[in-house]
Amino acid sequence: MTAAFDRVFLWGRPFWEYLQMFKLSKDDLEKHILDCAGGPASFNDDLNRLGGKIVSIDPAYRLQPEEIKKHINEAHEVVRRLLFEKREFYALDFYGNSVDEYCQVHLASMDDFLSDFSAGKREGRYLEGALPDLPFKDKEFDLSICGNLLFLYRDVLSIEFHVQSIEELCRVSKEVRIFPLTKPGVLETDDLETVINMLNERGYKTERVGISYEFRKYSKEMLRVTEASIRNML
Ligand SMILES: C[S@@+](CC[C@H](N)C(=O)[O-])C[C@H]1O[C@@H](n2cnc3c(N)ncnc32)[C@H](O)[C@@H]1O
Repeated sequence: MTAAFDRVFLWGRPFWEYLQMFKLSKDDLEKHILDCAGGPASFNDDLNRLGGKIVSIDPAYRLQPEEIKKHINEAHEVVRRLLFEKREFYALDFYGNSVDEYCQVHLASMDDFLSDFSAGKREGRYLEGALPDLPFKDKEFDLSICGNLLFLYRDVLSIEFHVQSIEELCRVSKEVRIFPLTKPGVLETDDLETVINMLNERGYKTERVGISYEFRKYSKEMLRVTEASIRNML
């Protein structure tokens, strides 16, 4: 099953959140990185400016910038309402515990993405495509990151879609990092263990890694996945 972006919000995080969600080190930033489900995040723009090697892929990249902006505005309304209604489930300390501040910072970083989008498309940094089939060669990337799609949208994405997608990310890269590991408002589900067990049975190594980033309260882990044979070489 392929997720259509109209069932998944077009909402993106700023660079510093990416660093924390995926525990990216200075060395990691020098790797050839794939941001899968990159959406309107400014990570590609920021890393490119820093001289990094980055490609982002997302089904929404077939849209025109003004259409993406429209989806961002719709997502903004929902995110804003959610943050006010379910305030106790979110940690906004970094944003002075202010929903307005949170939204302003995120909208500004998504504007950076929008300003970069046309040039980035021409340069091949933004590609249209969707899990679970990616248009890349085996191990084309050192590191693939996939944020705020898998596990978060478990209600519309099957377990098999998760496993196939992670296998595909492992095919195209030496290492995969995924965040978050639960859907909103849920501390722990059997889904994560089911996916991990299926991956382990198919020969992949998985590691739940603690992170300092916290937005949805208590969601402070990412998943690192590698193929067993690759892992010994890293
Ligand atoms: C909530 S946004 C996350 C954006 C960014 N990764 C972040 O964390 O800020 C989720 C993105 O997943 C994309 N998406 C939906 N279905 C997808 C699929 N099958 N493969 C790849 N991306 C998909 C959507 O278009 C959307 O841009």
